[in-house]
Amino acid sequence: MRLDKFICKSTALSRTQATAKICDGNVLVNNVVIVDVATQVHEDNAITLNGEVLTARESRYILMHKPADTICSNIDEAYPSLFNYIDVENASELHVAGRLDADTTGLVLVTDDGRWSFNIITPTKHCQKVYRVGLSRAIADDVAVKFAHGVQLQGEQQLTRPAILEVVAPTEVLLTITEGKFHQVKRMFSAVGNRVVSLHREQIGAIQLDVEVGQWRYLTAEEVNSFTN
Ligand code: URA
Repeated sequence: MRLDKFICKSTALSRTQATAKICDGNVLVNNVVIVDVATQVHEDNAITLNGEVLTARESRYILMHKPADTICSNIDEAYPSLFNYIDVENASELHVAGRLDADTTGLVLVTDDGRWSFNIITPTKHCQKVYRVGLSRAIADDVAVKFAHGVQLQGEQQLTRPAILEVVAPTEVLLTITEGKFHQVKRMFSAVGNRVVSLHREQIGAIQLDVEVGQWRYLTAEEVNSFTN
């Protein structure tokens, strides 16, 4: 991770304060003064601040049930941030691994471990996300085949990756995708002449939503490890 991030993860300093400490020459990595905040460091490196050895805090892995009309960024904007619901220290270090739109509800995974979220977000890692989708009109017979093949979204160069459609009722389906383009599910249904009226994420990888709306819990070690490959 970057040196400035390491300093934040091992002290109570903000990013600005950490930057100042580094630039002032107060930080040593393996006994060498480092003033480049972007230097990549590893937890095995001996890192000191004013002579004191630093140890990064343990990474955190959280499952949350996102309510409607909340946003996945760390600060409130047009809607309140879902981080208002997560009462942990240093919440500003956390991010959502795979954001949902403000009106989308359901499962979000929250962490401060960027390498872990990479395994969830990156399409080539094939991590499946399952959405329950409410539609404005009955699903057409050919949509499952179209989604399995891939559809062209406006403004995208490549077809969507193969997706699995399971029909629950004429206007309710389960859609499994392995990528997360901007408004992907809504745009996929728009591409086949339908419209999403409700969207809820039920599952990411092997993890299913099992807490009430607005609630959260830490993932078990087994759940955390289920994404590392
Ligand atoms: N696809 C969308 O269109 N919106 C979401 O929130 C998630 C996936």
